[in-house]
Formats: sequence, structure tokens, C-alpha cells
Amino acid sequence: MDNFTYWNPTKLIFGKDQLAEIKNEVPQYGDKILLVYGGGSIKNNGLYDKVMNILKELDATVFELSGVEPNPRISTVRKGVDLCKKEGIQLILAVGGGSVIDCSKAIAAGAKYEGDPWDIVIKKTVVKDALPFGVILTLAATGSEMNPSSVITNWETNEKYGWGSPYVYPRFSILDPVHTFSVPKNQTIYGIVDMMAHTFEHYFHKAENTEYQDRMCESLLVTVMETAPKLLEDLENYEHRATILYCGTYALNGMISMGFAGDWATHNLEHAVSAVYDIPHGGGLAILFPNWMKYVLNENPERFKKLAVRVFGVNPEGKTTQEVGLEGIEKLREFWNSIGAPSRLADYGIDDRQLELMVDRAMARGDFGKFKLLKRGDVEAIYQASL
Ligand code: NZQ
Ligand code: ZN
Repeated sequence: MDNFTYWNPTKLIFGKDQLAEIKNEVPQYGDKILLVYGGGSIKNNGLYDKVMNILKELDATVFELSGVEPNPRISTVRKGVDLCKKEGIQLILAVGGGSVIDCSKAIAAGAKYEGDPWDIVIKKTVVKDALPFGVILTLAATGSEMNPSSVITNWETNEKYGWGSPYVYPRFSILDPVHTFSVPKNQTIYGIVDMMAHTFEHYFHKAENTEYQDRMCESLLVTVMETAPKLLEDLENYEHRATILYCGTYALNGMISMGFAGDWATHNLEHAVSAVYDIPHGGGLAILFPNWMKYVLNENPERFKKLAVRVFGVNPEGKTTQEVGLEGIEKLREFWNSIGAPSRLADYGIDDRQLELMVDRAMARGDFGKFKLLKRGDVEAIYQASL
């Protein structure tokens, strides 16, 4: 286990009817609020009205930034930053999924920066301050509700990069499983894939003696895999929504990944695909992850065997370590197929025409991957296997 410091200041407020807690949270920061949300789901499911009514009771002055795109764009961040600066916003309230939260993080940091907020995303500048912001989460997937990371797309240049700063932890996050009842089946599947993918990114690392962390990752994966099929049959089941919501947060709030650095190559591969084709993040991961796993299996077959046996119930008797590991990867593919996740880039109409551009985008920050360092040729091979 490597040395580490763990610090996570986000106040997590979880459960039914916890929305009312914004009455206690919001006034701590001020009464000029920027409400940030997406393409309308919160208007359709009634959450917008509920939030506005509470803010009205608080006599808050509310400005709105709507239309945040899935794979949020820097052009929208810029609009938000302008609003914050012009109106003297004191608190940003993000109501939505990972895209709305990530956009709000970039706005919060951009509002305290003189230059173009894209400088923050490309790490041309280091964030030194940010406006406070709170979250009302509506989709279980990214973990952005309790972490300091954000992923922003520049659609004009087909670039999509992650950045992060301790200044952009949400001050509070309200997670009511009921707010996720209206998430359609496909987005529910993408979220399930994403939280499993985060757990795999942690699981494949090079540190020794991480037995407890391994067990936490394994138990999260088993829990998600047991719950997912039941939830997909019954999208308004409170208990299943609650389990998945909690797992999504836990998969990427640092709790299961202390003491080692995870791989994160597949996320970089996926961000490059969605930068060029604007596909859903979880859909891209479902296609790429098993192919990355097969490609790097020989890096540490014992680790793949452990995953196969403990999580996918593979019987190791009479098989080589590699065979067991491979069987585990195939079981993952089968599981994702069984819940309706995509398995090939062709499912999104993607062929090799823009492959070079995807490789360029993936390589933009140099070779990557902590479990296995991927170079240009490796990236090409994984994309080819995924077509
Ligand atoms: O825009 P609206 O109308 O709200 O609809 C959204 C959107 O179309 C809809 N939705 C959300 N909550 C809903 C709902 N529909 C009905 N009922 C609800 N309650 O779902 C669609 C997808 O939303 P989005 O926020 O884009 O999904 P997700 O949470 O998966 O976020 C994806 C983004 O997060 C980034 C991804 O790359 C992608 O850009 N990531 C962020 C991470 C982080 N900050 O830590 C880590 C992740 O690995 C990921 O890269
Ligand atoms: Zn992800």
C-alpha cells in the first residue's frame, strides 16, 4: 500500500425527502443563486418546481443556466462564467447528472479566474479559488457529486479532457433515490456500466498489499451486478435505485481507492471517442473495457484471475491463470450484453474513418495508463478490436 492522505469535504445528504435540506444549506452561502440544469428532465419530472419553490421560500434571487449538454461543452461553461461575474452569484446549484455537475465545477472555478475557462480544463492554469456550489443529483453514474473531478468537451476542436481541483468538491450533495426514478432504461444502463468501470479502473493497479481495498471493489461490483437486472425490470423501485445510487457515489469518491493509483487508461480512451462522436460515456466504456482487459491480461494474470473467481464466479480448476482471467473478462462482456449495453463501436455507427483522430486525441497528454503504459500502437490496437 502506498502512502496517502484522504480528505473529502462534501456533505452527503442521502434519502427520501432530503431535498428540504437545501433550506439549511443554501443560506450559508448567500442569496444570489445560479441554478444549472440540463435539457429539461427536471422540468418533466417536477424537480425543477420543487427546487424553485424552496428557493422562493428562502427569498433567493435565482438566475438560470439551462441546456447543459450530455458531455458538457466549454461554450456552456463560458455562458455560466459570464453570468456569475455579471450578477455576482454567491452559490451555484447543480441539478442533474454528471454533465450538469461537471459543467458547474468548471463554472465555479472559471468565475474566479480572469482568463478563458478552457485554460483550466487544459491545465494551462492552476485553480486557486472557486465559487461554492451544491448538487441535487438526478442520475447514478459518475460520482461527480462527491469528487473534485470534471470532464469538459470543446466541440469545435473535438477535445474532451478531465481536470480536477480540491476547490471544486461540492459543498453539499443531495441524493434522493426518488429523483432517479425517471432516468430512462438506457441511461440507467450507462450509469451502471460507468460505476463498474470506475471500480475496474481502481482494481487494476500495481501496488502490493491492498487486500481490503480489493475486497471493497469486489463487493461493490457484486452488489451492482446483483441489483442491476432487478432495477432494470422495475425502474421505480426505491431500494434498488438507492443501492445503485450509493454504489455510484462510492465507486468514485476515493473511499475504495486509498493507497494506490488506479489505471484510468480506458477512461482516456473513451473520452477520446466521445470527443469525436459525442456518444454516451457509459456506452463507450462498455465497448472498450473488455477489449482493454484482454489487451493487458498478461501484465498481471493473477489479478485478472482474482477478479474472475471472486466477482464472476469462474471455477479455476484445471485451467491456467490466463484462461481463468480470460473467462472472467468474457463473463463481464456477457453481463453487459445481458443488461443491454453496447459491445462494438459499430453499435454507434463508428467505423475506422476517424480512428486516427481518436488516437491523436487519446495521446494528447502523452502515453497513459498506470497498470500498463499505453503507447500509440497499443491505443490503435484497442480501438481496432472495438470497431
Ligand atoms: O439533460 P437532461 O434533460 O437533464 O437529461 C439527462 C441527459 O440527457 C438525462 N437525465 C439525467 N437525470 C435524469 C435524466 N433523465 C430523466 N430523469 C432523470 N432523473 O440523462 C442524460 C445523461 O445525463 P449526463 O449528466 O450526461 O450523464 P452522466 O451522469 O453519465 O454524466 C456523463 C458525463 O460525466 C463525465 C462523462 O465523461 C460525461 O461527460 N464523467 C465525469 C466524471 C467525474 N466528474 O468524476 C467521471 C466519469 O468517469 C465521467 O467521465
Ligand atoms: Zn466514468
